[in-house]
Amino acid sequence: MGFNIAIDGPAGAGKSTIAKRVARELGLIYVDTGAMYRAMALACLKKGVDVTDEKAVEDAVEKIVVSISYKDGEQQILLDQENVTGLIRAEEVGNTASRTSAYPAVRAKLLSLQQELARRADVIMDGRDIGTCVLPDAPLKIYLTASVETRGMRRYQELTEKGVPCDFREICRDIQERDARDMNRDIAPLRQDADAVLVDSSEMTIQEVTDTITALAEERRQSWK
Ligand code: DC
Repeated sequence: MGFNIAIDGPAGAGKSTIAKRVARELGLIYVDTGAMYRAMALACLKKGVDVTDEKAVEDAVEKIVVSISYKDGEQQILLDQENVTGLIRAEEVGNTASRTSAYPAVRAKLLSLQQELARRADVIMDGRDIGTCVLPDAPLKIYLTASVETRGMRRYQELTEKGVPCDFREICRDIQERDARDMNRDIAPLRQDADAVLVDSSEMTIQEVTDTITALAEERRQSWK
């Protein structure tokens, strides 16, 4: 195993923004596991699968091949060789991913891919179950969170800047529903692992969070091996 960092936390806590920056600072490869679950969800949406039907989702994902590659240092996600990196960012895909990721067949399919990536390189991997299931022996685990209002406001600003019409209260409601699904599912629910460091970014800038995690990682790396 390489020197790996696990970052878990709820939707909109800033995991990917922070993980990308820490990756740059420390020369690690950033692995976004949410993108893999989103690709699975997109495949179901494309095929018109009823995502409340576990057996139908299982059948649909059986033949799908999800893989990742890197272009100019940015993770690209491929669904049966088609680059779907842009397509998976839609709200509908994120919400669907939160449903389909609760099924064991979907999780089993992605677990080995994620563990293989971490075996081959030093990675910073973000998701919901990285510290608890995917990389239980990671030398540094972070649980990154923020209040629902803070996460909702960040998402609202992001969408508004892109010119996408949106409603703040609706965004907060979606976030709460997604938290509840991700935290209460039977398999690999989102939770802070016993040895994870809690970072609440509600009152912190991106730079402050990046510096906090980079400092922790540098400290752990010295005593690692
Ligand atoms: O981080 P994200 O919004 O891209 O993730 C989309 C959904 O995928 C999330 O609501 C739950 C699921 N997911 C998961 O179950 N396990 C992971 N390691 C990452 C994401």
